[in-house]
Amino acid sequence: MTRPSLRSVYPGPGGFDARALRREFPIFANNPELVFLDSGASAQKPHAVIDRIADYYRTDYANVHRGVYRLSARSTELFEEAREKVRRFLNAADPREIVFVRNTTEAINLVAQSWGAAFLQPGDEVLISVLEHHSNIVPWQLLRDRIGIRLVVAPLDGTGGLDLAGFEAHLSPRTRLVAITHIANATGAVVPVETVVRLAHAKGAKVLIDGSQAAPRLPVDVQALDCDFYALTGHKVYGPTGIGVLYGRYELLSAMPPWQGGGEMILHVTFDKTEYQEPPHRFEAGTPDISGAIGLGTAIDFIEELGRDNILEHEEALTGYGIDRLSRIPGLTLLDAGQRRLGILSFDLEGVHPHDIAQVLDQHHVAVRAGHHCAQPLMAWFGLSGTTRASLGVYNDEGDIDRLAAAIEAAREMFD
Ligand code: ALA
Repeated sequence: MTRPSLRSVYPGPGGFDARALRREFPIFANNPELVFLDSGASAQKPHAVIDRIADYYRTDYANVHRGVYRLSARSTELFEEAREKVRRFLNAADPREIVFVRNTTEAINLVAQSWGAAFLQPGDEVLISVLEHHSNIVPWQLLRDRIGIRLVVAPLDGTGGLDLAGFEAHLSPRTRLVAITHIANATGAVVPVETVVRLAHAKGAKVLIDGSQAAPRLPVDVQALDCDFYALTGHKVYGPTGIGVLYGRYELLSAMPPWQGGGEMILHVTFDKTEYQEPPHRFEAGTPDISGAIGLGTAIDFIEELGRDNILEHEEALTGYGIDRLSRIPGLTLLDAGQRRLGILSFDLEGVHPHDIAQVLDQHHVAVRAGHHCAQPLMAWFGLSGTTRASLGVYNDEGDIDRLAAAIEAAREMFD
């Protein structure tokens, strides 16, 4: 018997009923008071993902790409099926363009240490923006220190969005790569990546997009975006921790040297010389996170069943409600996020330290992140050391925002 779809079980305006959908996430049954507003750090997991991982270990587990026995073949088939699901999720042209890594951080480090070290020369420029997470800053600094590239930073406009004219002005004949976020993790600013790719390609630069915060919130089509690399992490798209994805255009991946050596990435090894596999296996040394990839595949099924346009509509509506609700709290300043903000509400409350706010919120069972959000240069741009950040997921609704607002009011009174 086929299972009824999530949308028919949880119908609601915009495609699904977020509050009812919570029944799919056991964390809420086990923490009935919980208002979870930290999906930007890591999203909660549906039953389907948790059960799939347990079932896989119970029924199909063996190492992949190695055994000739049937169980190993079955495991390999499931692992490669997961790769195909990711290909479809990103609308990549070919599953060989999907490399499994640990997380977005590892995906960006892979590009820096493999593509960057092989193809960039001293004086070549990598252009990032003020909006970046440390994981899209530090790998380029490491590469700079190793081979002498220049790290160039595109400015923001007065509204906290990417200054497109400034961005264009920072593209130079030496710009070889633009590495930029799709949605800023600390503010929710959505970067117009289509325009960024067009401008960068016009100058002959490649583009890597950090899709950590965008993949759970927006439909992503790497062919329509025309980007060269796209990085995402599984745990933010309702999948397990420890698995992430690097999408890379095949012709780029196939020209890139391995960045880690070991089992499974080779064709032939002698003590003198090693021949490497083709992508993606060339970049997947050692036993991969097999159950993580399979769990990620199930998370993608979950997202696609809800409908990515529905999720976008849900996040947009709730972001709008949050902006409106929080803006009415005296002394609260929402961090600017340019023309378009999605899924993330970062704020400063006059006279109260973000950690103190987060602790009071926790007493009200409201879970948020506080601090610099691994985006210290962006915090410095705002003249702050940190903020309190609420970030949304498919299980949040207006009631959660109301609970957040009430808890902030309580914090404000407590520290008045
Ligand atoms: N990158 C994650 C965040 O923004 C951990 O919180």
